[in-house]
Amino acid sequence: RQLPDQRVRFRTAIDDMATVSTERRRSSERPMRFTRFANTTDSDPALVEVRTQAQAWVTARPAEPASPRLNDRAGIDEVVARGRAGGTDWRALPARTRVAILCRAGDELESRRAELVTAMAAEGGKTVGEADPEVSEAVDFARWYAERSLDLDPEQGRLTTDGARFAPHTLTLITPPWNFPVAIPAGGMLAALAAGSGVIVKPASAVPRCTEIVVEALHAAGVPEGALQVVRLADRELGRELVAHPEIDGVVLTGSAETAEQFVEWRRGRAGGHGVIGETSGKNAMIITPSADYDLAVIDLVKSAFGHAGQKCSAASLAILVGDVADSERFRRQLVDAVQSLRVGQPQDLGVGMGPVIAPPEGKLQRALTCLESGEEWWVEPEQLDDSGRLWSPGVRAWVQPGSWFHLTECFGPVLGLMSATDLDAAIRLQNQVAYGLTGGLHSLDDQEIEHWLDRVHVGNAYVNRHTTGAIVRRQPFGGWKASAVGAGAKAGGWDYLGQLGAWSSAGRPA
Ligand code: ALA
Repeated sequence: RQLPDQRVRFRTAIDDMATVSTERRRSSERPMRFTRFANTTDSDPALVEVRTQAQAWVTARPAEPASPRLNDRAGIDEVVARGRAGGTDWRALPARTRVAILCRAGDELESRRAELVTAMAAEGGKTVGEADPEVSEAVDFARWYAERSLDLDPEQGRLTTDGARFAPHTLTLITPPWNFPVAIPAGGMLAALAAGSGVIVKPASAVPRCTEIVVEALHAAGVPEGALQVVRLADRELGRELVAHPEIDGVVLTGSAETAEQFVEWRRGRAGGHGVIGETSGKNAMIITPSADYDLAVIDLVKSAFGHAGQKCSAASLAILVGDVADSERFRRQLVDAVQSLRVGQPQDLGVGMGPVIAPPEGKLQRALTCLESGEEWWVEPEQLDDSGRLWSPGVRAWVQPGSWFHLTECFGPVLGLMSATDLDAAIRLQNQVAYGLTGGLHSLDDQEIEHWLDRVHVGNAYVNRHTTGAIVRRQPFGGWKASAVGAGAKAGGWDYLGQLGAWSSAGRPA
């Protein structure tokens, strides 16, 4: 691979990642070995080996969480002080050393694939088909942000050639969600470290071990303990103390729009702004037009709506059926068959297509699973399948009315609503009517329709003839518009993500 001249100084680090740093070879684009074997009786020895390995992963028990649990303000102050010292030392390392460590972090994460899948299955109910690509995404974040960090270096970076200088945060707090307990915390930690900042990560309380393993991988790669700390908190009030702490320069949050608004409020009034980078809620729709390939549309819709039991901010919660699609018996039969054939169960059973929800449904999800509104009917009615309250069969509710509760509300679970629209413009109006703007899908084989839609849809990730979840690092930077971006910030996995984890100054000198 030909190296651009100005990067020769980083030759070793670049060489380390040369085999993976091209778009074609991102880790998450390698064939997913663990996604296609589950229902097969194929006796191909390679497949048998993969199946045996996956079975061992999902039936193993993860270690107990080991990170410190803070009980009071003094504990928080201590961790923050250690983090500031650790961040200062980390920033002082030569950029090439940091890059090499972060590249190694990708390898360390890869080497913990089994452990990570085990923890995701046990703590979060993730099937191996969902957990396996999540590990790949974390690996991609390590390699991609390592590469991007070169652009922040004053001597080498393209972003700094106009004389601007970058001063990273000293300490960044990462607060990830429970639904992507590996890739999202990994992305936040790796971005902040790549920018040159120290990090504290507070795992979601349901899935601490998943995030701890990521931290262990980064430590094993050479990230110093002071530069990266993981802590659990005894209660919510301490969460507020940590988020609002004056010695924390920025907070990366993935969660609900309400939580992000709360974080912004807690941090309001600080010099330099609240520093909250938020990736927040979604109420996402996939439009299907009469020109679509129904076979593909149904596969993508089911994957988008029911992957991880619909518990993704990127999930398709609505399908908007244009014109004849809404009346098509064939489409209805295909969709209903596909949904009813999803096997629901625990991830320890490799034949399962949809796992449990994270907790017995209450509030919005309970309403979505159990109550129809005026004008609606079940195409497939969800059922509670066991006493735990966590296993639900998937539901399809037609016909969700424009402006109704289900049309506009994020429910975060295994329910898909169907809407009808007379034409593409009417469908786009329904899609844009929601307060959020995270992902959107279009299934159409008509180029003019595709262009028309791309020009008008108000979402951060607009997917054509593809499922709406599982953005690929670098190729599909992830993040939304409107209430999907409370706190705001550049898109995760994009070119400019690191530059927001610090401050810029321009050096003014006489000409
Ligand atoms: N980045 C995750 C996805 O694309 C949320 O599904």
